[in-house]
Amino acid sequence: MPYVDGKTLSEFRVDFGMLDKNIKFDIINQIFEGLYVLHNEYHVYHRDIKPDNIMIEIKDGIYRVKILDFGICKMGLNESYVRGGSMLWSAPEQQDNEFVDQSKIDVYCFGLLILWLMYEFKS
Ligand SMILES: Nc1ncnc2c1ncn2[C@@H]1O[C@H](COP(=O)(O)OP(=O)(O)OP(=O)(O)O)[C@@H](O)[C@H]1O
Ligand SMILES: [Mg+2]
Repeated sequence: MPYVDGKTLSEFRVDFGMLDKNIKFDIINQIFEGLYVLHNEYHVYHRDIKPDNIMIEIKDGIYRVKILDFGICKMGLNESYVRGGSMLWSAPEQQDNEFVDQSKIDVYCFGLLILWLMYEFKS
């Protein structure tokens, strides 16, 4: 992956609170689009979506979101179960010993991210 000249969402969060709401929605929408393309075009499930694994690059006033760290991602939905994720940011079923639909893990973490960004949700 090319070097991203920007900040992780964790580092960026202080600035995020002061942004215009349209820019906030743009950032959230870009995370959604990234996950949508990963899931629907590449059938890749990231499984570790959290603020440290997302970066924001700002060039000429344009905010670009980059999803990093595909260390525990899975391809397809038929692979054997692998426990993983980061404890605070993982879906409850991700820590169980049963096979779960991997795509739902990213959806859960995306929801947590929105809460964390918009509502001072503590991590
Ligand atoms: N392409 C990149 N450009 C700039 N900085 C990066 C890039 N990839 C990673 N980083 C920085 O390095 C940090 C760690 O990278 P990464 O998330 O890939 O590994 P990790 O944190 O060791 O894995 P884990 O999330 O499992 O702990 C990121 O939070 C980010 O600050
Ligand atoms: Mg990481």
